[in-house]
Amino acid sequence: MEKIRKECETCTLCPLHLSRTNVVFGRGNERAKLLFVGEAPGAKEDLAGKPFVGASGKLLEATLREVGIGEDEYYIANILKCRPPENRDPRPEEVFACTPYLERQIAKMRPSLVVCLGRIAAAHLIKKDFRITAEHGEVFEKDGQKILAVFHPAAILRDVRKKGEFLADFEKIRQILAEEK
Ligand code: URA
Repeated sequence: MEKIRKECETCTLCPLHLSRTNVVFGRGNERAKLLFVGEAPGAKEDLAGKPFVGASGKLLEATLREVGIGEDEYYIANILKCRPPENRDPRPEEVFACTPYLERQIAKMRPSLVVCLGRIAAAHLIKKDFRITAEHGEVFEKDGQKILAVFHPAAILRDVRKKGEFLADFEKIRQILAEEK
């Protein structure tokens, strides 16, 4: 993983390298069975060089605590490793340039469950036309790995009415992990 990180940290494959403060490669337990994949770093992540350190990350961590998934039980990374200006959606050419890093992270980790945080990650990793409202929590199988998507934590911060479904999906994640042990 360190080799991939080193390469990624000097990456100039797309214009986002010009505006980044730090590359946001990933954090957590590289040997975990559970991998979360978000969209792209925000302002706080760009400054810290770590994914999900802002408000979305706090909500994610609180939810994980609520269902009893410990800090050492997962790894977390994003589709894009550099922050898009003004937090706009990733552009297709940025996703194209950047996702080989994520694919190598997945190949190295070989998690038993991949959880997409939000539609953008699900559209890339599950299927192009993924509908997050209708299909969150549904388990798909890809290359022998289980994969599902949950709402992006930022969506829960915007609309707290989604919290119940979000929590139910995390209960399911915990259950799948227990079955994999
Ligand atoms: N949102 C994301 O999708 N990723 C982060 O790292 C932070 C916020």
